[in-house]
Amino acid sequence: MDTPQHVAIIMDGNGRWAKKRKLTRLAGHKEGINSVKKAIEAAIRNKIPYLTLYAFSSENWNRPKEEVNGLMSLLHGFLEKELKLLIENKIQLKTIGRIHELPKATHKLIVESKEKTAHFDQLTLTIALNYSSQNEIIDAVKRIIQEERESTINLEELTYPKIASHLDTKDLPDPDLIIRTSGEYRLSNFLLLQSAYAEIYTSPILWPDFNQSHFTTALEHFAQRERRYGKIS
Ligand code: FPP
Repeated sequence: MDTPQHVAIIMDGNGRWAKKRKLTRLAGHKEGINSVKKAIEAAIRNKIPYLTLYAFSSENWNRPKEEVNGLMSLLHGFLEKELKLLIENKIQLKTIGRIHELPKATHKLIVESKEKTAHFDQLTLTIALNYSSQNEIIDAVKRIIQEERESTINLEELTYPKIASHLDTKDLPDPDLIIRTSGEYRLSNFLLLQSAYAEIYTSPILWPDFNQSHFTTALEHFAQRERRYGKIS
């Protein structure tokens, strides 16, 4: 089977999952953590070297304060509890997004967890936190302008790979497969440039119900796709 090198997931539907059960939205996010662990296991089992998860978008700050705080503490708890699992499985943790704007203690924990796993290569797990493709592009443009001022970059010679090397994803290959759960058909400001040639698969399953067999189904769909990159068959 043609396996993708990089799978990126828009984990959607936690709120609806909770609503159906008359639970709080936060209970849905909490359940979503189990699916995060299942997705990591599925990536390892299927020998996928790069897995990227969209956990918190820059727009998510506009949700009720209680939900935002709850999500931050779930993330903090995940890192505290699961760092051992990352190390045991030789998983390198990376992030994309403006993590310096996260709560101080969580930011510190993220930086430390990334340092402790930086040498692993069984799986690169990237978590998108306070991420927005548009903000990522703004930050890249600012860096390029700064380098131009310092004469370390020549704008006449600017190429797409040069721009890509200034994005948060500079050390990652572009995603081959983007999975979005909960039956929605949007990219929601996620990896907009990087997904230029990604295959998109949407699953009707709500994220807390998304398990290893749903992940395998997405991979089977991917294997059926013909990737032409603008060429003909
Ligand atoms: C979208 O569902 C999901 C989120 C905004 C948060 C995703 C977070 C997690 C799964 C837990 C934390 C993750 C990690 C990596 C530790 P929604 O709330 O928009 O659902 P709805 O559309 O049904 O309301």
